[in-house]
Amino acid sequence: MSDPIPNKPEPSTPPPTEGITDAPKSPAPTSGTDRITATPPAPAAAKPAATAKPADGEPTRRNALVAFVLSPMAVAWTTFTASMAAMTLGTIRFLVPNVLDEKPSRIKVGLPQSYEEGQVTDRYKDQNTWVVRHDGMIYALSTTCTHLGCTPNWLEREQKFKCPCHGSGFYITGINFEGPAPRPLERWGISIGDDGQLVVDKSKKFQQERGEWTNPESFINT
Ligand code: FES
Repeated sequence: MSDPIPNKPEPSTPPPTEGITDAPKSPAPTSGTDRITATPPAPAAAKPAATAKPADGEPTRRNALVAFVLSPMAVAWTTFTASMAAMTLGTIRFLVPNVLDEKPSRIKVGLPQSYEEGQVTDRYKDQNTWVVRHDGMIYALSTTCTHLGCTPNWLEREQKFKCPCHGSGFYITGINFEGPAPRPLERWGISIGDDGQLVVDKSKKFQQERGEWTNPESFINT
């Protein structure tokens, strides 16, 4: 009997070498045929389109609008339109009587007995009216200076109206006596209403130089 043939030892896997890493494997060379038949890479997902910026010097819509607004023709057209609008408004304002923002022409100024002899009432000065009781009469004077239209002041101590603009002076009667005013102050119409109150009517005007102060509508006898 011969000895059995010993089994060939199995080739063993060499143990890994510590500290040594495998060199990266080079990609397998691609043959020319492979390059032709290779599937092309999938297209990348479409990126959102970036906002197109105009090239330098390229007019945008906004630039075109600004250029138009600033153009002489646009300025001229705007001016013309504004002028026409102003003319139209002026015409409407002229044709339609304004009854809302104007002060009324007739104002009640209280009972006659509420006025003392020699008294000038400034209470209605903002309505272009002085109410005066003097020499047995009550009358209403306009506060408009007959020189150039300023508003005089009543000076109680000096018993006169004095215009601050050019120095015209008027007696308590309204008669001018100093300064450049060429004529007396004007009187408004005055009457007694149903309720016994004095009513000044600024739609009626009486001028002394025309002899109108004798008109009974220009004063109240007291
Ligand atoms: S406006 Fe009154 S004096 Fe000239």
